[in-house]
Amino acid sequence: MDSELSIVLFLLIVFAACCCSSSSATYHHDPAVVGYSQEDVALPSRILELFSSWSVKHSKVYVTPKEKVRRYEVFRQNLKHIVETNRRNGSYWLGLNQFADVAHEEFKAGYLGLSTGLAGAGGRPRAPTTAFRYEAAVDLPWEVDWRKKGAVTPVKNQGRCGSCWAFSTVAAVEGINQMVTGRLESLSEQELMDCDGTLDHGCGGGLMDFAYAYIVGNQGIHTDADYPYLMEEGDCKEKQPHSKVVTISGYEDVPENSEVSLLKALAHQPVSVGIAAGSRDFQFYKG
Ligand SMILES: *[C@@H]1O[C@H](CO)[C@@H](O)[C@H](O)[C@H]1NC(C)=O
Repeated sequence: MDSELSIVLFLLIVFAACCCSSSSATYHHDPAVVGYSQEDVALPSRILELFSSWSVKHSKVYVTPKEKVRRYEVFRQNLKHIVETNRRNGSYWLGLNQFADVAHEEFKAGYLGLSTGLAGAGGRPRAPTTAFRYEAAVDLPWEVDWRKKGAVTPVKNQGRCGSCWAFSTVAAVEGINQMVTGRLESLSEQELMDCDGTLDHGCGGGLMDFAYAYIVGNQGIHTDADYPYLMEEGDCKEKQPHSKVVTISGYEDVPENSEVSLLKALAHQPVSVGIAAGSRDFQFYKG
């Protein structure tokens, strides 16, 4: 379990009814969606052309011809995986993105960072309370889109750093802060990276539970503007004067293995979620 790595997704949107449109199979093969056409993948010469146009689109620069050849080979293998997966017309599709020249082992080492083993022999840390506050919730809405209610900041990018735990924590605090105060403030992942170092480890991974505990103990977290993201760990600068601070009074765990509980919680507020993302399909997930 210690080596299990996950990407953290922050779920604000609940689709109570999942609609499978009859035209969804076309998305699996739409060049505008997946980033290649069936002609592109039919011939080696076309794959090379596709690699060139993809490299330009993503501003890829390879320092040596040898490196370019190596990256092309990784690209070709990844493309093969994407094409084969999409041909199965499953419930999701993959596409060429900025990670198409990154080997899967390299991707896992560089971008995932939920450390489920951090709590040591005691297992996953538990929030301090036991009662689930939404247990009695009834008449749940068919859907909730917290973006429409102004509780979600634009998508951020953690970059090449296992800091998903900080982004998940911050996004949930941004959401609850907007719901309570009416103000949407983008908050600082970097502060958690630099200052919450007892059990969390910056780019080396962490857990949201510890980060919430840090914010409670620290009596707040600074804004992104005051404490911007650097994509690497730095010295803790939490004692900045004149900077705005958003705080939370506590945090709770949703009861384990209960989708109904998750639904009840999400209907009322943001929830931090970790998913096991150590599969190649997550690297290229498109829709
Ligand atoms: C997948 O969808 C495409 C386009 O709709 C279709 O041509 C193809 O036969 C389908 N493949 C399978 C395995 O169902």
